[in-house]
Amino acid sequence: MRTVVHTRQGEPAQVLRLREEPERPRPGTGQVLVRMRVRPVHPGDLAGVEGLPGLPEQQSGARTPGVEGMGVVESVGPDVHTLGPGQRVAVFPAPGAWAEYVVVAADRAVAVPDEVSDETAALMLVNPLTLLMLYRALGSALRGRQGSVLQTAAGSSVGRLVSAAAVRHDLPLINLVRSASGAQKMRKLYPTLPVIATCDDDWRERVRHEAGEQGIRVVLDCVGGAMTRDLAELLADGGTLISYGQLGSGTTPLERLPLIQRALTVQGVTVFRWMSRTPKERAQDVAFALDLARNTPDLLEVAASYDLADFEAAIEHARRPAKTGTVLLTTPQAANPGQGAA
Ligand SMILES: NC(=O)c1ccc[n+]([C@@H]2O[C@H](COP(=O)([O-])OP(=O)(O)OC[C@H]3O[C@@H](n4cnc5c(N)ncnc54)[C@H](OP(=O)(O)O)[C@@H]3O)[C@@H](O)[C@H]2O)c1
Repeated sequence: MRTVVHTRQGEPAQVLRLREEPERPRPGTGQVLVRMRVRPVHPGDLAGVEGLPGLPEQQSGARTPGVEGMGVVESVGPDVHTLGPGQRVAVFPAPGAWAEYVVVAADRAVAVPDEVSDETAALMLVNPLTLLMLYRALGSALRGRQGSVLQTAAGSSVGRLVSAAAVRHDLPLINLVRSASGAQKMRKLYPTLPVIATCDDDWRERVRHEAGEQGIRVVLDCVGGAMTRDLAELLADGGTLISYGQLGSGTTPLERLPLIQRALTVQGVTVFRWMSRTPKERAQDVAFALDLARNTPDLLEVAASYDLADFEAAIEHARRPAKTGTVLLTTPQAANPGQGAA
């Protein structure tokens, strides 16, 4: 089977390669073997290859990127009663999803309804679950208080989910993007939400003006880096900076933030904490993701699809400025699923 691997962290084009593995993995007790069809290229996948500050360093040995995707159950291990061979499933967390086959615990595989396409299914867990995690963090940070919420990289796939939810829930959200063309796109998609582009010198004043007297109560930030200081300064006293990504460059030392004087809170959010929710809570979250996949698949937009072997071109596309949606890595369907090449 084909798998994308790296044995050290670094620039993906330099450290990733396609490897032919002689054998497929085998599912153990409570596990399923999934023949993967589609997996996304998420910014977090690339960060895992690059090894950003704050992320765990790669242990020795080969590692395959990827955390989610969809495919077809090939076989099941002992004690799996809910899924069977031939069933379409979306998987998360599924470390090593950039391979033709992955083994995951059965409770990490969600049966995909017929009306949901392969592409939508491949995108229906990480970002919608991230939206839920962000919304919960936002609810705790707001604690019923008035004030606006500012989000960075608003044109991102996650940012657009946040915008759609804000419109639905009447949340006073201000969208921040980095370019005039990005602002134009967001105005078209969400005309009721203010959009400000950081390429304009007066963007900070514009944010203050939009926020009015109550100011910015919470920032949802996935840019970080040198921008963190600006974002902290835009917060109202007692406000919260929710950090969930590191798309930006540069750094901001904690000591340069007015945390103490202005009683600010900095909070991290990661979808990898989702497994610590109870099985009942996870089932409710999965029901939300399935509902979104069925009824608003356009919120899980695909930028382009590439064969798994073309991962370099896929990564270049995923990093392209002004791209919309998520880039996918696909594996052609075998003519006879049971006989696919090992
Ligand atoms: N914590 C978690 O569990 C979790 C889960 C999912 C995603 N995330 C994070 O959420 C963020 C968005 O992910 P995604 O998959 O939605 O991204 P995406 O669809 O690939 O979109 C990336 C967006 O980021 C913008 N961007 C890129 N570099 C930027 C920079 N230096 N400054 C400002 N904007 C920049 C791009 O703007 P242009 O249109 O101008 O190019 C684009 O709108 C990422 O940081 C990702 O790691 C975190």
